[in-house]
Amino acid sequence: MKDRPFSQTVKGRKKYNPSEYFTLTLSEPFANGAIGTVHRASAQFEVDSITVEYHELVVKFAFQGEHQEELRREYKIYQHMAKIGYTANILRVHGLFQDFETGLLAMVMDYGGLTLGTTKGNQPFTEKGQKVLWDALQDLHSDANVLHGDIKANNIVVDSSGNVYFIDFHRARVLVDTHPDSFEYDCDALVEMVFP
Ligand SMILES: Nc1ncnc2c1ncn2[C@@H]1O[C@H](COP(=O)(O)OP(=O)(O)OP(=O)(O)O)[C@@H](O)[C@H]1O
Ligand SMILES: [Mg+2]
Repeated sequence: MKDRPFSQTVKGRKKYNPSEYFTLTLSEPFANGAIGTVHRASAQFEVDSITVEYHELVVKFAFQGEHQEELRREYKIYQHMAKIGYTANILRVHGLFQDFETGLLAMVMDYGGLTLGTTKGNQPFTEKGQKVLWDALQDLHSDANVLHGDIKANNIVVDSSGNVYFIDFHRARVLVDTHPDSFEYDCDALVEMVFP
């Protein structure tokens, strides 16, 4: 998809009711990935004339064409999982938005906590921790048919209650009617990570 030139006028409604939009407030970027920058964010929106604030959000930006394609691909994988009702170890994604004037693409999702890369460092995984991650990955394969494609400590986050979530699905693929070995790539990556 081509970026829209700045001078091009964009047709759109000038006025929206308070229930038709939300306001996002972004903090400084806290991570720089291969696709773009990632910010903590909070949203304010109105429901029945009451303003609601939701603080636990993340916005992942993609600036250039090829990175935007990757972000669209990632969003499609989340859409697939939402459509089939697969929610285990997956964070809620609230939408993919494009800025009219600059063409900037942004995916808004829940904040899932710190990555295992940050929390674990070089510490070994406990047997329970190994099992939790192994079972979560097996479920992703067998119940969602999703091959993640980039399993590593910085693509798994853990919240304050110890729940783990896979993130960063831009290399993922939905595999149907395949042999269980098709998911070996992810399994090998996880084994390397948790059973060194
Ligand atoms: N929902 C989230 N909750 C918490 N942290 C997140 C979330 N999404 C992204 N991050 C943080 O931002 C970093 C980069 O995000 P992500 O891995 O999705 O981007 P990427 O550009 O595809 O990265 P990569 O360099 O791994 O390809 C993650 O390693 C993590 O630290
Ligand atoms: Mg990543």
